[in-house]
Amino acid sequence: MKIFSGSSNKPLAGKIAKLLKKELSQLEIHIFPDQEKRVRVLEKVLGEDAVIVQSTSTDADKNYIELFFIADALRRSGVKTIIVVIPYLGYQRQDHLFREGEAVSIDVIVKILKVVGVDKVITFDLHSTRIPEIFNIRIVHLSALSIFAEKIKEDHLDGDDTVLVSPDKGGIRRIKILSEMLGNMPYAVIEKNRDLATGKVTMDGIDGEVEENAIIVDDMISTGSTIVTAANLLKNKGAKNIYVFATHAVFSKDAPKILQNSSVSSVYVTDTIFVPEEKQFPKLEILSISEMIAKTLKI
Ligand code: R5P
Repeated sequence: MKIFSGSSNKPLAGKIAKLLKKELSQLEIHIFPDQEKRVRVLEKVLGEDAVIVQSTSTDADKNYIELFFIADALRRSGVKTIIVVIPYLGYQRQDHLFREGEAVSIDVIVKILKVVGVDKVITFDLHSTRIPEIFNIRIVHLSALSIFAEKIKEDHLDGDDTVLVSPDKGGIRRIKILSEMLGNMPYAVIEKNRDLATGKVTMDGIDGEVEENAIIVDDMISTGSTIVTAANLLKNKGAKNIYVFATHAVFSKDAPKILQNSSVSSVYVTDTIFVPEEKQFPKLEILSISEMIAKTLKI
């Protein structure tokens, strides 16, 4: 097996390779002055199984194009199979028609992955369980929830006065699974609304009891507005300590600053997306999904 990394999350690719006792395989990614890319495989891969690790987070367009080119280069070089590890699957929000006249972006992405010869996709905590159904290539959908459960126990956040909180109804399945992993910890679900035109988040109420300690669980943090609005609501309802666990640290705009200045005590994310130093902040802790991916690749 040969492991290649795109440019978006080399530290994660390096960790996966190390766990599999391998070196990352060599690629040349040349960027022309107009920002177009040329990709070349620098190793013999004929008949090999090739793995490409690429998070398709910001800038999703650039990272996807690079991934497509790497897959194409490997296919033309005679690999047997191509497995792509896309820890954060960009363009997944638009997984169906919300309004007439829209594109279904993830459907377009899947079509291209198929055309460039990808055999299997390994990904993490998809926004909706509907997404794997769109795939007509094999997909392995992993979750960071077991990593979160371990961390919650390790940091003793699982005391009696604790409630798990989903900031929206879409996260009910996620929160139920985590609750079971934590010995049926109580959970509550916030009623969230987002204006599709302006992106403004409002939260009208919460279904369930709020306890002294609240653990908000979400799939991703983008602008941070969902987390901050949820934290304010929980504070108003009597929560004293608020912790956040979210798989994907998308961190757009001023999210790191907003989260650091918010009422939450700690923000736990994973390395599905590389978080550069300038986006890290004192309340942040990054947990690694590398072992889970390495184990999946060994099967
Ligand atoms: C939405 O349904 C997702 O689960 C996240 O809550 C959302 O994408 C977070 O975005 P933001 O941080 O911009 O509120």
